[in-house]
Amino acid sequence: MSVRRRLTSAAIRARKSKRFPVITSYDAAFARCAEAAGIDVVLVGDSLGNVVLGYESTVSVTLEDMIRHTGAVARGTTKAHVIADMPFGSYEPSDADAIRAAAALIRAGGTSVKLEGGASAASRIAAITTAGIPVVAHLGVLPQTAGIGGGFRRKNDRTAILEDARAIAEAGAFAVVLEMVDSAIAKEVTELIDIPTIGIGSGGGCDAQVLVLYDMLGLYAEAPPFVKRYAELANVATDALRAYANDVRDGAFPAPIIVRAPDEVEA
Ligand code: KIV
Repeated sequence: MSVRRRLTSAAIRARKSKRFPVITSYDAAFARCAEAAGIDVVLVGDSLGNVVLGYESTVSVTLEDMIRHTGAVARGTTKAHVIADMPFGSYEPSDADAIRAAAALIRAGGTSVKLEGGASAASRIAAITTAGIPVVAHLGVLPQTAGIGGGFRRKNDRTAILEDARAIAEAGAFAVVLEMVDSAIAKEVTELIDIPTIGIGSGGGCDAQVLVLYDMLGLYAEAPPFVKRYAELANVATDALRAYANDVRDGAFPAPIIVRAPDEVEA
């Protein structure tokens, strides 16, 4: 039996200093598009909560949500590395809880997991990594706790960010997302640690870039200003749905069925 090998965390780690794209995905259909476009690192972000499930924040996303969507993205891809976000509340209580939640995401099809936090999350990163599950860290704006104190403002506390970056790298993370970190500090972090930095709203000095799929495709109205919109799919979808609705109302769809007599049917 042949086993299909996905891009490994070691291979991603070896991309340090090589620029590469990462995109979020939440279902099999778009994950298939990402892979067809040559993107081989796909993040099942808990931005799922905002852009797909219609919640106001990622806090509402459950482990069950992440398991279901991680499975869908894994089924829509063959070789891509699937990073599964650990949702709020799934890793904070204890190392044992964190390992259990991470294992559930891997069982669903994830290749690695991501969790938010710097030095304070280092022991969790070490515990999950020691259990054999590769971990991506997440520094800067931390959406899971931003609404309850951390804030969504760009991060520019250089000393704290560099300390956090050192701590998560030492704890065994194989890559780190830098979300809305001052671009000069993000560049400094990239030069400081030997694992790839994956920037979002943190400038061009990072090793890789990630965007939220629905933001860059124009499917989410509240996309942050740093996002480059590569398409306006909400407009395309609305136009198509309007055309369909008009066709049904006008009787133009479905087309009339032409019933032929048996002797008219060609052999
Ligand atoms: O949940 C998510 O989509 C993320 C990105 C913002 C990196 O964590």
